[in-house]
Amino acid sequence: MHDRRKKKIFPDDFLWGVATSAFQLEGSPHADWTTWDPVISEKPLITDHYRLFRQDLRLLKELGVNAYRFSIEWSRIQPREDTWDLEAIAHYQEIIDILRSCHIEPMLTLHHFTHPRWFMERSPWHRTASIEKFLRFTEMMVSSLKGVRYWLTFNEPYVILLGGYLEGCTPPGLRDVPRSLVALKNIFTCHGKAYDIIHRYIPGAQVSLAHNMSVFAPWKRWNPLDRLLKKTANYFYNHSIINAFQTGIFIIKFPFSKPVEIEVPIKDKLDFFGINYYTRIHLRFNPFRKMGVELRYADIEGHGLTKMGWEVHPRGLAKVLRYASRLDLPLMITENGIATHDTGEKVKYMKKHIDVVEKCLRDGIDVRGYFYWTLIDNYEWLQGLDARFGLYRVDFETLERTPTFAATYYAYLIQSRSGM
Ligand code: GAL
Repeated sequence: MHDRRKKKIFPDDFLWGVATSAFQLEGSPHADWTTWDPVISEKPLITDHYRLFRQDLRLLKELGVNAYRFSIEWSRIQPREDTWDLEAIAHYQEIIDILRSCHIEPMLTLHHFTHPRWFMERSPWHRTASIEKFLRFTEMMVSSLKGVRYWLTFNEPYVILLGGYLEGCTPPGLRDVPRSLVALKNIFTCHGKAYDIIHRYIPGAQVSLAHNMSVFAPWKRWNPLDRLLKKTANYFYNHSIINAFQTGIFIIKFPFSKPVEIEVPIKDKLDFFGINYYTRIHLRFNPFRKMGVELRYADIEGHGLTKMGWEVHPRGLAKVLRYASRLDLPLMITENGIATHDTGEKVKYMKKHIDVVEKCLRDGIDVRGYFYWTLIDNYEWLQGLDARFGLYRVDFETLERTPTFAATYYAYLIQSRSGM
């Protein structure tokens, strides 16, 4: 009885998927990250997915997913500004064809953190020329690749800006607020224009980006400064982007200073909203830290901390979904997952978050899909190779893939919840 009631909650066309990104699986000799991080010079092929992709795509069938989010590596497609690598394009087309032949809906991300080296050297995001370069790439992809309905222009644009322009820990490695604002304008301008290009070529396309929504909390509830930080972070991270899609204006507000307004051509340029959700962040005012902010992850509710040190906070997923539903668009959980070496933890994390999705569906929130991050262990950016988000474990020496119990469990959850 219990099970039968559950089956009705997830609609038949709910997208049950996993999400990956090209560079994290296959590296690229032409990408900016390859020279940025010494881990990549030691292991340039990472999981060697570029060669082993057929075998990896078979794992999707094993899981029984009906959707797969992946990205194309721009630097493989356009290794030099004047060179399009047609073999690389054919490679990604083959992925799409395999997915289609297995009735798995592809969701394609155009930009997932990495760039061709020439792009970063000559026209990074704070230069106006970046817009034309990215749109040329977009048009090339959209006109060449056949069989993709779901498109994500950018993965986590805020992370590109925070890492590349404020923290300086990712390319182009700047700490420069004025340039970060120009980069924001250029990236979102690209989104708006790419949205139009995709629709021009593909009638019925569904276009979005993947934004990492987060839940913020004051470190000490009684401290008004911590509470102010929480409000500021929430406004910037969760509200300003939603507002910009509704109005075409980014409003960036920091305490005790005049709000900055940036016009971006993205009003209504969204067919659904892609949300990556992982954790909750506690904020504390600390005058000795950069911008007066210190953040921490704390195991407040006893769900534990992940290998990344992040708090497991399933309730937060409901919070961000509820918040995002003010867009009045279908919502898609484009990433959710846990880094851990403990499969039991992975299973618990997955179950708790999918339970939350189920509850949100019951409450009438229009969630259309859930993509677990990620299929196989991969390169986790600044954390290297040890984070282990995969449903399948990768031995980075032998490249062998082994299912974890979480893979079996995900397959079971998909079957039992969807009635597939
Ligand atoms: C996301 C990102 C992914 C992956 C994941 C886990 O922010 O899009 O590439 O690294 O986090 O940390």
